[in-house]
Parts: sequence; structure tokens; C-alpha cells
Amino acid sequence: MKEPPGFVQRFDGKIGVQDRMRLLDQTPATIWLTGLSGAGKSTLAFALEEQLIALGHACYVLDGDNVRHGLASDLGFGHHERRENIRRVAHVAQLMNDAGLIVITALISPIREDRAMAREIIGADKFVETHVSAPLATCASRDPKGLYAKARSGEISSFTGVSAPYEAPIDPDLCIDTATLTLAESVAQIFHYVREKCLGTSTHRSAHTAGA
Ligand code: ADX
Repeated sequence: MKEPPGFVQRFDGKIGVQDRMRLLDQTPATIWLTGLSGAGKSTLAFALEEQLIALGHACYVLDGDNVRHGLASDLGFGHHERRENIRRVAHVAQLMNDAGLIVITALISPIREDRAMAREIIGADKFVETHVSAPLATCASRDPKGLYAKARSGEISSFTGVSAPYEAPIDPDLCIDTATLTLAESVAQIFHYVREKCLGTSTHRSAHTAGA
């Protein structure tokens, strides 16, 4: 990773992540959703966010299509640009984790090595690799944005699964099979993991989560 020049030095504030964890009564982590276009990453991410917010937890979704309207608006879909997209989002996720937030990312992030880079930036203890899995044929038949049709006709190039690779995780922390699970079941599986890893134990919150 590129380092800044030597005269750019870190300045540490008086508040550390432990203070923020106490304040928010939660342990930050990044739920890194990876999967084909149309697998259901964004749907799952926003549904999980809704559930966590309803229970009073501070979280935020970094969605591929959304960040490509700002933070990554200068990037395309070649290998290097996707890697840069993932690098930027991983750094934002790391900063948000440092601020105490639970982060959910929804990026195709198709290359194993690029996800390994994200893990390194975010920290292995906070990185939850989650494969949002559905067969290519299922994603292509859903085709919510009409992109598979465009990819097949050649209107869009380097489209993941059609004309660009997708390397499925080998040993993900979670694997959510959206071809067989309902949305509610998929969210429940991730929520169960997040509850164990991130959520506080105060009476207020446990009263809520007990009923969840
Ligand atoms: S990633 O590969 O860099 O992680 P990201 O998740 O940010 O991808 O963006 C994927 C979104 O961009 C898709 O949901 C789709 O709407 C759109 N898109 C446009 N062109 C492509 C392409 N060639 N391959 C994949 N997705 C594309």
C-alpha cells in the first residue's frame, strides 16, 4: 500500500474506538457482501440495515452502485478500477468502523485477492466475508437492471459472470444462498451472526434483540 510522504504524520485524538464502542454499546465490524450482480447484495444490505437501526444500532451501507455516483464516480469496470473501487470502500469502511459503526458493504468485489486487500485494510478481526450466492443462471434470469441482456448483446463489456470473472470465496465467514432462502431468512442468518459479534448486552438492547 502506498505510504504518504514522511512529513505527513498521524495525529491521534483523545477518543479511541473503545470509547465509541461504550457510547454506542456495540462492537464495530464490516459485513462484506460479495456476489454476482442480481444475487441480492443491495436488497440484503438495506434490509439488514433497517433491522439494525430499528433495534437502535448505528450502521451504514456502502453500496457499489451508490458509491459509484460519488466516491468512485471516476472508476469503470476494468480490473484495476474495480480494485481501486474496493480499496476506497475498504478505507471508508475502516474509518466508519473506527467511528464505532457497523458497516455493510454491497460490492460485487469479484476477485479473491482484492477481497484479501479489503480484509487487510479493515482488519481481519472486523472483516466478515459474506458470500451472497445464487447461480449465474438465476441472477441472469432475475436481471433486475437489464444488464445481463446488455452484456450478452455486447452493449456492456467486462460484465461479471458474462465477460469478466467472478471468483467465489473459498472459505467465507457466511454464505447466504438467495436462490433457496427468502429475504427474511437471509437477513435472519446475517443478523444472527452480527448479534453474536457486534451487539451490546445492555438491558435496553437485549430486551429488543430477545424478541427479534
Ligand atoms: S465491483 O466489481 O467494483 O465491486 P460494484 O459492486 O462497485 O462492482 O458495481 C457493480 C454495479 O455496477 C452492478 O450492480 C451494476 O449495476 C453496475 N455495472 C455496470 N457495468 C458493470 C460491469 N461491467 N460489471 C459489473 N457491474 C456493472
